[in-house]
Amino acid sequence: MHSFAHHNHGAAGKAPNSETHGLVLKEGWRYDLHGWLIDTFRFRGQARTLKRRAVALADMRPGEQALDVGCGTGTLALDVQRRVGATGRVYGIDPGAEQIARACAKAARRHLPVVFRVGVIERLAFPDQTFDVVFSTLMMHHLPDTLKRQGLAEIARVLKSGGRLVIADFARKQERQGQAARFHAGGSSLQDLAALVKDAGFEQVEMEQMQPLRFSAFPGAGIISARKR
Ligand SMILES: C[S@@+](CC[C@H](N)C(=O)[O-])C[C@H]1O[C@@H](n2cnc3c(N)ncnc32)[C@H](O)[C@@H]1O
Repeated sequence: MHSFAHHNHGAAGKAPNSETHGLVLKEGWRYDLHGWLIDTFRFRGQARTLKRRAVALADMRPGEQALDVGCGTGTLALDVQRRVGATGRVYGIDPGAEQIARACAKAARRHLPVVFRVGVIERLAFPDQTFDVVFSTLMMHHLPDTLKRQGLAEIARVLKSGGRLVIADFARKQERQGQAARFHAGGSSLQDLAALVKDAGFEQVEMEQMQPLRFSAFPGAGIISARKR
């Protein structure tokens, strides 16, 4: 799925918006096509179900401000913008310039005012206490643990007090079985990720798991929802 993935490192001493030790995707429209094909034929739609559940858990209200970190080609951010309406505002950031270009094109075609920017979780270019909700879907497994900590601290900084965080991610590789065990790199266990979320200053940390359906190659996934203290 990630044949166009790269690790970006800028020149020494400089930190451009896209520099990261995370795994950056550069597939643009191909990400949407591959994602649709894999989800439809191998995952039995479970990736779409996972993201729908993540959005439902955030319980967005009209007028709220949301950020999608590692937004890829922007599908979730566009969905969230419809929920917050004309008075709400949604931002999406991703280090993959091709993903951001594709997201911008989709927003323009749908006449939705989502703001997509090249950026990284470890340096969120937003003031403190800006957002009611921050999302991260299928992204945490792209980051080494040190970067997860750094990123969660940044998310806590840009969330308002009482703001909600929703993270959806694949199950860790070691916890998969059968065909799913061969898919993707894998990240932290849900419990380890939840512990990092608590360490970053969140409370009411709740977890949900999604097991693979029968005859699905979906690797299993989990959702963590939490509130900033
Ligand atoms: C599997 S994609 C998921 C995209 C989208 N959230 C979705 O659910 O379809 C993971 C994304 O994380 C991005 N990413 C990698 N390192 C990152 C970082 N340091 N900060 C923000 N996003 C990053 C990649 O470029 C990629 O677009």
